[in-house]
Order: sequence, then structure tokens, then C-alpha cells
Amino acid sequence: MAPPVTVNTINPKVIECEYAVRGEIVILAQKLQDEIKIKLEAHPFEEILYCNIGNPQSLGQQPITFFREVLALCDHPPLLDKSETQGLFSKDSIQRARKILDQIPGRATGAYSHSQGIKGLRDTIAAGIEARDGFPADPNDIFLTDGASPAVHMMMQLLIRSEKDGILCPIPQYPLYSASIALHGGTLVPYYLDEATGWGLEVSDLKKQLEAAKSKGIDVRALVVINPGNPTGQVLAEENQKEIVKFCKEEGLVLLADEVYQENVYVRKKKFHSFKKVSRSMGYDEKDIHLVSFQSVSKGYYGECGKRGGYMEITGFGADVREHIYKLASVNLCSNISGQILASLVMSPPKAGDESYESYISERDGILSSLARRAKTLEDAFNKLEGVTCNKAEGAMYLFPRINLPEKAIKAAGEAKTAPDAFYCRRLLTETGIVFVPGSGFRQVPGTWHFRCTILPQEEKIPAVVTRLTDFHKRFMNEFRD
Ligand SMILES: Cc1ncc(COP(=O)(O)O)c(C=O)c1O
Repeated sequence: MAPPVTVNTINPKVIECEYAVRGEIVILAQKLQDEIKIKLEAHPFEEILYCNIGNPQSLGQQPITFFREVLALCDHPPLLDKSETQGLFSKDSIQRARKILDQIPGRATGAYSHSQGIKGLRDTIAAGIEARDGFPADPNDIFLTDGASPAVHMMMQLLIRSEKDGILCPIPQYPLYSASIALHGGTLVPYYLDEATGWGLEVSDLKKQLEAAKSKGIDVRALVVINPGNPTGQVLAEENQKEIVKFCKEEGLVLLADEVYQENVYVRKKKFHSFKKVSRSMGYDEKDIHLVSFQSVSKGYYGECGKRGGYMEITGFGADVREHIYKLASVNLCSNISGQILASLVMSPPKAGDESYESYISERDGILSSLARRAKTLEDAFNKLEGVTCNKAEGAMYLFPRINLPEKAIKAAGEAKTAPDAFYCRRLLTETGIVFVPGSGFRQVPGTWHFRCTILPQEEKIPAVVTRLTDFHKRFMNEFRD
């Protein structure tokens, strides 16, 4: 009898879905790492340098002390009654933990919460958004989630009815979007970021792609904007954001604003502006635009990816639709409580005068300034490589250099039945231990090749990345020179 489940009988949408940041190259990297553990000389390098995923703490970034103090106290409230705690924990972390515990029904982090998230924490987040934007935020608009990913899935589930429903997504894009659209059976409608203008977003291209999709019978429902960008690292100018907001209003599109890198801006001339602030400053309110903003505890200077915390702020949707969003959240009961607490902390960190304030500022600025230096060093190194050009990482955690591969390398990749940029990344990994993600995993203008490199290896490891990459690149180009 045939097995009850085979790849021919599973949901074809699962087969169609791809997730490059944890794809083939990364699986190979893990295998090489296991081999090195058993035998150090197994490969021509002693360690794998993971530059493939935005997972800061896996590469040694330290969590913010204040956040962890509050979490620890909330998770084990008896600590609050011990005299030693006063000496071990900062005063403001003790106060904050008491306040948060008072907001949690039953004072228990092991209990389910309201499906939208603990109300007191949503109040704190709303106040944080208000302080950031200068416009009011309503705690009832906030849904706490296990990171931004489930929030994105929830919105796709809500919006996509069939393959006739389209979602406009930037290309290159973060693969969560293509994967989620594929899983929910919709159509990804691409718009291209312009590499020549530092990954600029042209509203004229949005219009062109929207019209093209409509002419194929696609009902385009939403526009995804990732700002600061992943994998491209650009920070949108406010004027550009205004054009995008206007476009969504005029075309009746939901604006899905992925703002998880809001704290990761490295250039003085650019600033993060939330789409909510931009739309409100244009005089648009709830009636004018449906807007969802995603935020996460995984990014910024906090980098708490494994804690799985985040929220979405939903504005403009009618009460009846919101009831259904609430129902969707209820199907998962609630997001995890540590993640909820962290989401409130990142939107309300220590203030001037609090005992932790100075250590918090020094930890935060230390991380962000180091990320900025790493981004610049890697950008300069990429731009020195033959046939490689790399835009500035204005924000986020990545560089996305373009590589002009020799014809012979493209042919060799074809013979190996792999994309040319995947061929390059595979060779880079097996010869140097450096893990990049091929640009094909993020989609790119056809005929162009890229790779994505995170700026997350610790600063002292960056020179090793640069030297190994530079030597490898020379060898590779010499081998395949036309
Ligand atoms: C642009 C973007 N959005 C969303 C996410 C999802 O993050 P999380 O689910 O950890 O919040 C990521 C993760 O790398 C990302 O880069």
C-alpha cells in the first residue's frame, strides 16, 4: 500500500513555498560545521562565518541588560521579595517588573493572555508609538504577536481569497513575503527597487506593475513596503513615503508597512519615519487609508529573535473586519508572554533619570555604532572586488552587492544545475566557510546576480571575512575569466 503521505500528496502550496535564508547553502554550512567539530582539518577553515541571517545574538550580540532584568523578575516574581535582589537588579527594572506583573491577570507569565495581548502592555506600546510619531495611537489597534512573521501571515490570510488576489511586493524582497503569499495561495505582484538610485522606490513603477496585474485579472489588495529595507538596506526619504501613501489611498490598497528595522539607521542624512506618522502628517486619517505597521523585538539594537515578540498596529479597518482579525488571533490563543513583555520594553525603554538609563544608552549606542562601522567596512570591501558593486547600507542589517559573473562561471553554474549566484555562494562556503545567501532567494531583476551578507559577525571577525572573501574572489575570477 502507498504511504498515506508523499510529496505528491501534500499541499502543493507547501511545495511552492521557498525560504532562502534557511535554504540549501545554510543546510550545507551546518553539515560542514558538524564535520569540523569531528575533525578540525576536514575543511580549509576552522569555523563557519554565518553572514546569512539577521539573528544578532547567535553571533555574539549581547542583550540589553535592563530588558533581561525585567524579564527575569517577571518570570520569577519571588525574586522581588528577596533582599539580595535590590543589590543585583537596577531599581527601575524592579519597578517596571512590579508594574508589568500588576498588569498581567493572575500575575503569571505562564498563563494565556487576551488574544490581542495583555492590555497594560498594549497601553505602553501605544504610548511608545505616540511618543515616536507625535500622533495618537490606540491600544485596541495593537495585536501582540510571536514576532512580525505570524502577523504578516495573519494579514495574508485575511487578504488573500484566491490566486486572483495580488500583493505588491518589492523585488528584491524578504522571502517571508513570497513564502506567505504562496502558502495562502495568492499572487505576488512584483515591483522593482532601482539599484542604480540606491534601491529607490519609484511610484511610476508601482503604477506600471499595478496596471499590468489588473490587466491580467488580478485584484491587487495590498502593497508591502519594507523600510528600512531587507535585503537592500535603504531608508526611504519622507517625500517618497508620502507618494507611496497617496498611491495606496488613490488605488484603495492596504499599506503593509514592515518597520521592523526602525531603530537600524546608520546614516545621518536619513531618519526613520513610520508610515502612520507620514500619513497622519498628510492629513489622512482612518477613513483615508488602511494601514498595518509591523514591529518586532528581533531587530533594532535589541536583537531578541528567539524571544519571539512583536506587534502589528492596524488602523483604518472597520469594526466588523477587526472582529475577524481578533478571531484569527484567538485561533492561536495568544502570543508568548515574554515576547509580549519585551515588545512593551522596546517601545518604552529607560528614560533620563532612571537608574538604568546610562547603561542602556551606552549598550544601545555601542551596538548601533558598531553595526554602522561593520556596514561601512564590508561595503568598502565589496566595492573593491572585481565586477562587484555595492550600495550603501543606510539601515537594516544587510548588504546586497551585485556581482557581474564571467560567462564561464554562468555556464559552469548551468552545468551544475544551479543559479549562478548560488554557484558562487556555494564555492565561497566550501572554500572559506563564509555563508552568504544567493540573490536568487530574494528575487532580482532577471539577468542580474547578487548575494546578501549580514553585517552581524562581531566586529573583530570582520577583517577575517574581508580577507577570506577577497582572496576567494580573486581565485574565482581568475578561474572563470572569459
Ligand atoms: C523585513 C523583515 N520582516 C519581518 C521579519 C521577521 O522577523 P520576526 O518574525 O523575527 O519578527 C524579518 C526577519 O528577518 C525581516 O527581515
